[in-house]
Amino acid sequence: MSPPTCRLLELEAPWRHPELIAQIDAIFWQTAARTFAPGAERDAFRERWLGRYLRGGDVVLVALAEGAGVVGYLVGALTNPSAEARFADIAYFAEDFAALTWRFPAHLHINLDAGFRSQGIGAALIEAFAARAKRAGAAGMHAVTGKGQRNVGFYVRCGFSERAAAIWNGREIVFLGREL
Ligand SMILES: CC(C)(COP(=O)(O)OP(=O)(O)OC[C@H]1O[C@@H](n2cnc3c(N)ncnc32)[C@H](O)[C@@H]1OP(=O)(O)O)[C@@H](O)C(=O)NCCC(=O)NCCS
Repeated sequence: MSPPTCRLLELEAPWRHPELIAQIDAIFWQTAARTFAPGAERDAFRERWLGRYLRGGDVVLVALAEGAGVVGYLVGALTNPSAEARFADIAYFAEDFAALTWRFPAHLHINLDAGFRSQGIGAALIEAFAARAKRAGAAGMHAVTGKGQRNVGFYVRCGFSERAAAIWNGREIVFLGREL
């Protein structure tokens, strides 16, 4: 099967695109490792990993495939999260990785629809974010994931390397940093 024709778009004012946000949400819940009953816990989970990046001021990139709409997204922030009160709920920034977030301040969360993985779309989203973060003056960028997860190989091929590990919520996580 040949890869789909895909274009990347940055949503500078995400609230103006409710139909695209709905598609981002669908991918977010499809890839979430947990399921939730409707309620405060579910809302807090979405807010932590997606919602807060959609209000403007952060980076929102979508991959659009012809005839399929949004098939993947990347959300991220450009400045050091361990120095920002709005990320205080994610303890690993300040408690485990603060020395590294100064060197690799931009951070990202990326997810693709299952039918569109392993076709290079994720790597294209990472390169678009890298260019965006570099333009904004970030010295580096990072992602945090579970140690030994399949996506670690993806980040390494995108130029990241493992800089540190920690235990968070009872599981081993790794900090993957790339200089810009
Ligand atoms: C990780 C992900 C963004 C990569 O995007 P992609 O377009 O599939 O990536 P590319 O085609 O550029 O590279 C393929 C690599 O992606 C990763 N990947 C592919 N499918 C994956 C999956 N179901 N779960 C985790 N990683 C996956 C693998 O590292 C793969 O390389 P491999 O086949 O040698 O293992 C995408 O696969 C995805 O959304 N996976 C599920 C959610 C996820 O892991 N998000 C990152 C959270 S930190």
